[in-house]
Amino acid sequence: MTSTVLRGGTLVSDQGRQRADLLCTDGRIAAVGPSLDVPAGTEVIDVGGCFVMPGGIDPHTHMQLEMMGTVVADTFLTGTAAAAAGGTTTILDFVGPEAGQSPLDALDVWRARAAPSVIDYGFHMTVSWWSPAFSDAMASLVAEHGVTSFKFFLAYKGRLMLPDADLIAGFRRCRDLGALVQVHAENGELIAYLQDELRAEGITGPAAHPRSRPPLLEGEATLRAIAMAETVGAAIYVVHVSAAEAAQAVRDARARGSRVVGETLPGFLAIDDSVYASPDFDFAAGHVMSPPYRPKGHPEAIWRAIDDDTLSTTGTDHCCFTRAQKRLGVDDYTKIPNGCGGVEDRLAVLWHLGVNSGRLTPERFVALTSTNAAKAFNLHPRKGSLAIGADADIVVLDPDKTRTLSAKTQRQNTDFSVWEGMEVKGVVVHTLSRGRHVYADGDLRAEAGWGRYVPRKPFGPVYEGRI
Ligand code: URP
Ligand code: ZN
Ligand code: ZN
Repeated sequence: MTSTVLRGGTLVSDQGRQRADLLCTDGRIAAVGPSLDVPAGTEVIDVGGCFVMPGGIDPHTHMQLEMMGTVVADTFLTGTAAAAAGGTTTILDFVGPEAGQSPLDALDVWRARAAPSVIDYGFHMTVSWWSPAFSDAMASLVAEHGVTSFKFFLAYKGRLMLPDADLIAGFRRCRDLGALVQVHAENGELIAYLQDELRAEGITGPAAHPRSRPPLLEGEATLRAIAMAETVGAAIYVVHVSAAEAAQAVRDARARGSRVVGETLPGFLAIDDSVYASPDFDFAAGHVMSPPYRPKGHPEAIWRAIDDDTLSTTGTDHCCFTRAQKRLGVDDYTKIPNGCGGVEDRLAVLWHLGVNSGRLTPERFVALTSTNAAKAFNLHPRKGSLAIGADADIVVLDPDKTRTLSAKTQRQNTDFSVWEGMEVKGVVVHTLSRGRHVYADGDLRAEAGWGRYVPRKPFGPVYEGRI
């Protein structure tokens, strides 16, 4: 039997907080209370003055993904190690079948790639092409392999984008299987049109990226996706909501009782599209992701959507590339690999921007970084909870410590950070993954292969994950 006790901290759940010790035994939370008696040999971690919370669940990562002529710089090993150092104990990554590849074969590839992970992981499936064979395979993915969420693209024309008829068929299939629809909601036809226009004008630098993907196109696609899901009776999760118009579509749908969950990313709360105007190509290209950072005003609109519970989860869309990789698009911004890092920074940035400013309570922070994702993806109460019996996935945060975020010191496998130079107050000092102390105040003790695959059960006829 292995035991660890966290002594003297403030335990925070999405519902409240208490001063108590927390005992982990054999990977599970075994006891919670003041001055706990513990078995001989128990590892004791003094967490006085710190907040003890469910480990972060990042529901949106892309490790080791082949994309736009290159491969994401973080492997599952380096990416999950960075996650652990930042207080995240579970990631949900996207399996991406090649066009025509069986999603079951693609899942095998991702299972092999993810085996060295240092924290637990689950998978969503990208519906990168559509046919009766794909639809058939979904039944097995849900019932036998624990993959119960499917991401559909309304953008990336000629690559991942599906026509509405296929989206409708795919959403119906999700409904019938008790699976969750996820959407990347931008209007791919109009993006292609704007890219052609910009090309005709000879505009090829990163400043064209946000011009080719304006907020209205995210608003339209979000509303369209929700309308399709609502009409066929499927529950829908909108990933990386960045624009005020998209948040409004989610807000309106939730107000009429639709089963819609919205996710945002810390970057959309703080960074605006002025980054793309930089004359420094590496800096501008380092921020190229889709949807892009938005004009001033949108970050505040996204905060308001968090305030009023329109948006209830945060991910990172961790999809990091090096400066050298981004230079693939030095002559043509449409060839810049899309994506930014962040799996290591999510908790620190949200605590700093949200809790320190008084905009988030620690309880809401827990909901946004862990518990709500656990509920949305059917991992709760095993994950995202400090209840007895839950997996002992825990983050300890010292609210008085400060740290400066930088590509020079990060564990993410890239030489760029969208948070370069930001001083955050509130630092992750310990991370436990199923009771194992994987990070201790700068000392990463993670072990390759410690992470386990977490299969998920389908939802019942009524999606219970709306939070
Ligand atoms: O630019 C991004 N977000 N890259 C990752 C793929 C996606 O669209 O989520
Ligand atoms: Zn996306
Ligand atoms: Zn993504």
